Amino acid sequence: MMQPGFRDATPSDIDALVRIENAAFESDRISRRSFRLLIERDTAETKVVTLDGQVAGYVMVLFRRGSGVARLYSIAVAPEHAGRGIGRRLLEVAEKTAYDHGRLFLRLEVREDNARAIALYESRGYRRFGRHSDYYADHSSALRFEKLLRGAPPASAGVPHFEQTADFTCGPACLMMAMSAFKPGFVPDPVMEIRLWREATTVFMMSGPGGCEPYGLAVTACEHGLAARILVSIDGPLFLQSVRNAEKRRVMELAQADFRARAEAQAISVEIASFTLDDIRAGLSRGELVAVLVSGYMMFGKKVPHWVLAIGADADHIFIHDPWVEEERGETVADAANIPVPNALFMSMAQFGREGLRAAVFLGKRTQ
Ligand SMILES: CC(C)(COP(=O)(O)OP(=O)(O)OC[C@H]1O[C@@H](n2cnc3c(N)ncnc32)[C@H](O)[C@@H]1OP(=O)(O)O)[C@@H](O)C(=O)NCCC(=O)NCCS
Repeated sequence: MMQPGFRDATPSDIDALVRIENAAFESDRISRRSFRLLIERDTAETKVVTLDGQVAGYVMVLFRRGSGVARLYSIAVAPEHAGRGIGRRLLEVAEKTAYDHGRLFLRLEVREDNARAIALYESRGYRRFGRHSDYYADHSSALRFEKLLRGAPPASAGVPHFEQTADFTCGPACLMMAMSAFKPGFVPDPVMEIRLWREATTVFMMSGPGGCEPYGLAVTACEHGLAARILVSIDGPLFLQSVRNAEKRRVMELAQADFRARAEAQAISVEIASFTLDDIRAGLSRGELVAVLVSGYMMFGKKVPHWVLAIGADADHIFIHDPWVEEERGETVADAANIPVPNALFMSMAQFGREGLRAAVFLGKRTQ
């Protein structure tokens, strides 16, 4: 047999990719338009295998921003070339691509009845770690597999993930995750999500409802039975540099002054300092969970403040629960839960705006 060659897909491969897709899959096929978008998108890599100059198969890997996980989105070999070791080689290419992007895990979903693909993944050291029922268009279920590409497997922190149900409730979603870890019997729901948001909010965005700043989050956390302390790099009001409207500014300043006073009244510890990786690690090793302000730009390309919850660490990564699940891009909760973020990437994500604001709210169990 001629030797297979591997290279990046280009838009001129789309006809061949669509042909393979239609031959290899009966449903949930990637459309021509999606192939084009995915080939051009900088958070996806599509590799093709060629035999005698003809495209014989492909593999596609997605790279969520700000994550240590890569996702094997699709793999297929043209039926006339199947069973000759090409799928196995493509999977190796996918793993290498993920590794070269600095990713810790490669994860994938596979139909429960796809014995052939499952045998391939298992023989290459993938571990089954979950199942989604009613995942595909025909209601069949998906098994989830992952392979560790480097390092030691992280300890799972066992903190339940909660997906924010509104664009502006990342902070409250993080609070609820901490509340479900620290308060026995607490079950998060969207009613509590909105209630916490109303209690913790001061940040006006350009338009629409606002988000949270650290004092509002910490005060709300305390009022709901948690212990909280704040590490923030800037003293005084936050998020005001982009606010041009004087009335908005005035309201934000007053609301924040109120939260600062209430934080003081509740004896919430506030340290005005730029946190370091060691601060986050020290909190985690004491059993705290840390709501960390990150730049939405690094995570999903929008210049908005965003809160994620740091839940654990290994030597090279901080593990976060991101409350934001990008459903439009086919993400599931598993893409956003327990994400290993390489240390350096974590520190560059965990700042906001021109001033590089760093803010973290350390949440714990109330002891008295
Ligand atoms: C899954 C797929 C990519 C495998 O590609 P392939 O080139 O046929 O696979 P390979 O020849 O490299 O074989 C790899 C492993 O698959 C399994 N396999 C291959 N042919 C098989 C067959 N006829 N029956 C059962 N298992 C088989 C074996 O475990 C094999 O390992 P081995 O070489 O140690 O025996 C290919 O069958 C395909 O495109 N299927 C349709 C699309 C699909 O299901 N994609 C996966 C979606 S998650």
